[in-house]
Amino acid sequence: MDQTNPIKAAADWLAQAESIAVLTGAGISQESGVPTFRGTDGLWKGLSFSDLASPEGFAEKPRRVWEWYNWRREVLRGVEPNPGHEALAKLERSKGFCGIITQNVDRLHQTAGSQNVIELHGSIWETLCTGCERRFDKTGEALPEEPTCEVCGERLRPAVVWFGETLPTGAMETALAWTQQCDLFIVAGTSNVVYPAGSLAFAAKQAGKTVIEINWDETPATDSVDISLRGKTGEILPQLLGTSALS
Ligand code: OAD
Repeated sequence: MDQTNPIKAAADWLAQAESIAVLTGAGISQESGVPTFRGTDGLWKGLSFSDLASPEGFAEKPRRVWEWYNWRREVLRGVEPNPGHEALAKLERSKGFCGIITQNVDRLHQTAGSQNVIELHGSIWETLCTGCERRFDKTGEALPEEPTCEVCGERLRPAVVWFGETLPTGAMETALAWTQQCDLFIVAGTSNVVYPAGSLAFAAKQAGKTVIEINWDETPATDSVDISLRGKTGEILPQLLGTSALS
């Protein structure tokens, strides 16, 4: 690897790779204007995830939880994918296999054109009935303060994964399979502190894959990856594609 030019080294790996899997987190949507969870302006600063993102918090005060999710849906109605999302969508069109494993619930990867996406933490655009367990697609809709199921009348909840809950059936199994199947694993814009998603960079490394991290800060995975590129995902991902033979 070219130690003096890590972007070039990463771009070379990208160009050589035949199969790429990518893990993304809130950082990739930050440049679209979506708040992240941790860090100086993070959503968890001053807010309690057990109040807003746990089954117990919802059972105790559903209106408080819906107020927060309706605010986040409102924020997301006004945002567009950024060059980071667009670069990954382009990568999928250029490579034999490119799969995105995202912790984001905003659907911005799909809006940018990515098709092979695992939503590890669900989608903020869907609701789930706490009674009959039906799912409803409420993309872009403004919801009432406490929405109820149009079929059985029970309370609806956001169809997202909360702390203490299990991931959607098969999601982690497929994500782990991709860490084995790919030859290059990219970890972009995640703090790598929420498990099981936080284990994927290590799983890819243990499987002998090349792992590239893109983050403007260090994470618990930084010392274990092959190259950690420090900067904005919306700048580095397009730069990587532009520098590699893919452009
Ligand atoms: P975090 O907010 O924990 O981390 C975002 C990461 O992106 C941090 O490491 C930042 O340094 C980095 N970052 C932010 N903006 C960036 C940018 N423009 N370019 C490059 N890096 C940037 O978000 P996640 O890792 O996604 O789960 O958090 C994981 C989970 O924790 C979320 O899915 C959510 C949260 O609690 C649930 O709600 C269940």
